[in-house]
Parts: sequence; structure tokens; C-alpha cells
Amino acid sequence: MQALQNLGRTSNEHDGLTSFWVANRLLVSMTDPKAIEVVSKACLDKDEFLIKYMRTAIGNGSIFAPVNIWHLRRKINAPFFSRKNLDQLMPVFDAKSSIMADLLRTEAGGGDFPIWRYVTTFTFDTVCENSNNELSHFIDVVIQSSGGLEKGYSNMELREELLVFMVAGSDTSATAVSYTAVLLSRYPAVQDKVYQDDTSATAVSYTAVLLFRYPDVQDKLLVFMVAGSDTSATAVSYTAVLLFRYPDVQDKVYQEIQEVFGESDRAVTAEDLLKLTYLEAVIKESLRLYPPVPIVVREVHEDILLPSGTTLVDETTVMFNIWGTHRNPAYWGPDAEEFRPERFLQGPLPHPAMFVPFSYSVRNCLG
Ligand code: HEM
Repeated sequence: MQALQNLGRTSNEHDGLTSFWVANRLLVSMTDPKAIEVVSKACLDKDEFLIKYMRTAIGNGSIFAPVNIWHLRRKINAPFFSRKNLDQLMPVFDAKSSIMADLLRTEAGGGDFPIWRYVTTFTFDTVCENSNNELSHFIDVVIQSSGGLEKGYSNMELREELLVFMVAGSDTSATAVSYTAVLLSRYPAVQDKVYQDDTSATAVSYTAVLLFRYPDVQDKLLVFMVAGSDTSATAVSYTAVLLFRYPDVQDKVYQEIQEVFGESDRAVTAEDLLKLTYLEAVIKESLRLYPPVPIVVREVHEDILLPSGTTLVDETTVMFNIWGTHRNPAYWGPDAEEFRPERFLQGPLPHPAMFVPFSYSVRNCLG
């Protein structure tokens, strides 16, 4: 992170652009919003070298997929994130937040404590419940099978059967079975196999097998889990720390919440969120100073002329240094390093790509 911060600062000192070598590869760190706008539209491929590790870890899910795979997945996933859909999920956000608030209350008055484990449980839980039913039931099965996993460890020679053992040994719930039915209807080959021996335990067992056999399902699951929960948890945690450090800001947030809800502990609605404008500015300012995804990378496949007159040559790897862009004094002013939520209440930003916690253009964050 320190290296990324140094690169961000160096870019800011050089009109938003600096280059460096990693072995024999030329990389460019970019903190100029105008250049980010051009490159984010012209270059959709992520850099093979840098994301190799991530792809190994979470597969070809849309974040790290090559453009041809990404394009299709984007089309499939995008409708899920429509405003209408998200508004319908408000009861889930509300319920999960209440659980977290109740848990946090047990820490009140007890001195310092790490907030991360509360927040990460909350975001993971929310993402799992909100992703479509398929995924959440998938996760149910896998998580509920962890007891079986321990048993399975002592039988490593079981290999694939280990998965069957994991799940069949511990979970035959109705949701898991019905979810399996949905999956089975999609994968006729597996369906045939299961129907030869159709007990609910077998059906559930195959859910686990499917997870490992069908990389596209696995990728989708992992992308939502990784992209949605850790990022949001980082954002919530930093915002909580900033509210603690700036009690005057915390007071204003509290005041605004009081104005909208009074003493009522009714459920939060989508309309309420629109009224919490100061809170929104606080969250944005937290995302500006501490972007949960501090960089994204793109691969240049043909020479690109930047607005500054510099040409990016073919085969360069570009790093959008989000952390540095968010602290670029040429755009944010001399107080760029300061926490000042009010800057988001002063109308549109001078350039849309100067605030890019969710990246920019067509390959930005879906969530
Ligand atoms: C504060 C929270 C979040 C931040 C800061 C964040 C940030 C990002 C960033 C920077 C990217 C990469 C874009 C690129 O490489 O150009 C991304 C991609 C993505 N994010 Fe998020 N994200 C957040 C929350 C979520 C949530 C809650 C979900 C879903 C439940 C989600 C789903 C995705 C998906 C599916 C992609 C891949 C999009 C694509 O390539 O088409 N994100 N996110």
C-alpha cells in the first residue's frame, strides 16, 4: 500500500502520470482524471500479468475475466443491480444492519475494540442474502457443511467424494434441496446422474460437486462474495473510524438521522436514504480518502494519445491509481488530504473521473 501511495504522490507531482518497471514490464501510474476517462473507455482488458494471481484465486468471474467472457457476464448480471431491484432489497439491508447494531451495542462503553469482524460479518451476510437466491442458497449449503468438512479432512483420499461427504453429512435442508433443483434444471448432465439415485442427501451433495465442476457458477459466486463483501466492509469500517475521529461530523450525521427518523426505530426505506444527504457526503469523503480498491489495472493494446499530449504505447500496463487520483491537489485543492465531507455538497465535481472508488466507464463496479 505504501508503494501504491508513493506512486500516487509521484504521479500527482508529474501532471498525473508516472512510469515504472516491474521486471521487463512498463507500468504507468495514472492520477489524471482526464487520462483515466480516455483509457477506461479505450482499454477494457485487465493486465494478464498483474491479475494472474487474482484469477487463480477467484477464477474468471466478471472482475478479472477477459473481455469476451466479461461482456456476456456483465449483460447477465447487470439487470440484478437495477434501482428497482435494489429498492426491493431494502428490508434485507435494514434487517442485517439492525443485527449489527445490536451486536455493536454490547461493546458500547467498553473501550476500544476492533470493528472489522462485526462489519465483515454484516456485509458478507447481506451480500449473500441479496445476491440472487441461487447464490445465497449455494452459500448456505457450503457454509452449513463446514462441520462435515472437519470429518472429511480425516478422509482425504475421498477426493471428490469428500465434497459429497461434506454436504450430505451435514445438510439436507429444504432450501438447499430446492436450490439444487434449480441448478439441476440448468445442468442436464448432472441431472441425469442425480436422478439415478434421487435422495435429498444426494441432491444436496451434488450442489457441492457442481460448485467445483462448473467454473462459471463458481466464478459468479466468488465474484459476488469477494467483490461485494470485503469492499463494503472496508468502506463501512473506515467511515466508522472517521466518525470516531471527527465528533463534530458524527454529531451532524446523528442530527440528520434524528430529523428523518425521530425516536422511531421503524425500518429504513429507500426514500429515507435519499434524505440522508450529509451521511452520503460523509461516506463519499471516506471512499475518497480510503478507497477500498486503491488501484485497478488495464492493458493497452494500441497506441493511445492522452489529452495531455503523451502517447501510451502498445503493451503498456496502466494502473488507475484511485488512491492518488482522490488526493490529486490539482482537482481537490490544497486541502485534498483533509477529511471534509462538505466538498461533496457543493454541486457536481469539476471532472466526473476525479472520484472513482467504483472505477469508471463501462467496466466499473456493478454493485
Ligand atoms: C464500497 C463498496 C465497493 C467498492 C469500493 C467497489 C469497487 C469496485 C471496483 C474498483 C471494481 C473494479 C472495476 C475495474 O476494474 O475497472 C469493481 C468491480 C465489481 N464490483 Fe464492486 N465495489 C464495491 C461493492 C460491490 C458490491 C456490493 C457488489 C455486489 C454485490 C460489487 C460487485 C462488483 C462486480 C460484479 C464487479 C465487476 C464488474 C465488471 O467487471 O463488470 N461491488 N468494484
